[in-house]
Amino acid sequence: MNVIFLGPPGAGKGTQAVRVCERLGIPQISTGDILRRAMKEGTPTGLAAKRYIDAGALVPDEVVIDIVRERLAMDDCKGGYLLDGFPRTVQQAEALAGFADIDAVIDIEVSDEKLTERLSGRRVCLACGGTYHVSRLNGNVCEKCGGELIQRNDDKPETVLSRLKVYHEQTAPLIEWYSARGLLRTVDGAQPMDDCFAAILKALGV
Ligand code: AP5
Ligand code: MG
Repeated sequence: MNVIFLGPPGAGKGTQAVRVCERLGIPQISTGDILRRAMKEGTPTGLAAKRYIDAGALVPDEVVIDIVRERLAMDDCKGGYLLDGFPRTVQQAEALAGFADIDAVIDIEVSDEKLTERLSGRRVCLACGGTYHVSRLNGNVCEKCGGELIQRNDDKPETVLSRLKVYHEQTAPLIEWYSARGLLRTVDGAQPMDDCFAAILKALGV
C-alpha cells in the first residue's frame, strides 16, 4: 500500500508513521527527516535546505521532488511505502502523480492552538529520532535508547508560527486536491495517540 500522511506541523504524522510502518512492514519516508540528516552531514542539499528549514519555510519543490523520486526507486519501496510530510504543495503532488500510484491519503486534523502547544513541548532523541512531549517525560533522556533529547531548531515559538502560516497557505490546498481525486480520508489527530492509531488503521482498511 502506498500511503501519504498529510497534516499540519505537529499533527502527529511522524509519531503515527512509525507505528503504521511497523504494522504494515513498509518504509517511512519523511522528507523532514531526510533533510535534517543531510543538514547534519553537511551535504550540498543539507546546506541549501538549512536556511529554509530554520526560517520555517518550505524547501524548494525541485529539491524535495528529486529526493522523493530517488527514494521511491529503491528496492524497499517495491512492497509499499508511507510518505510523511510529502507532498506539501500542489506542484509536489502533481510531480508525484507522474511517478507514483497512491492508494490513500490520510489527513490528520488538529487545531492550531493544540499544534502550538505540541510543537513547543516536543523533544526529539538525537540518537534514534524518538519523539516525546515534555509533559510526558521524566528526565531528559530517550526512553527507548537513553540518547540525549533536544528541541528542534524549528520548534522555537516564532518559527512555529511561520510553519503554521506556510501550512495553511501552501499545504492545506492539498486536502481539496486529494479529495477531488477520491483518495482523502480524514482522521481526528486531537484524540489520544492509541485512538488516533486505531482510527488510521480503520481509515486504511487494515
Ligand atoms: P517535517 O519534519 O516534516 O515537519 P512538519 O511537517 O512541520 O511536521 P512535524 O515533524 O513538526 O510534526 P509531526 O506531524 O510529525 O508531529 P509529531 O509526530 O512529531 O519538516 C520540517 C521542515 O522540513 C519543513 O518546515 C520544511 O522546511 C522542510 N520540508 C519537509 N518536507 C518538505 C516538503 N515536502 N517540501 C518542502 N519542504 C519540506 O508530533 C508532534 C508532538 O506532538 C510530539 O511532541 C508528540 O509527542 C506529540 N503528539 C503526537 N501525537 C499526539 C497525540 N495524539 N496526543 C498528544 N500529543 C501528541
Ligand atoms: Mg514529523
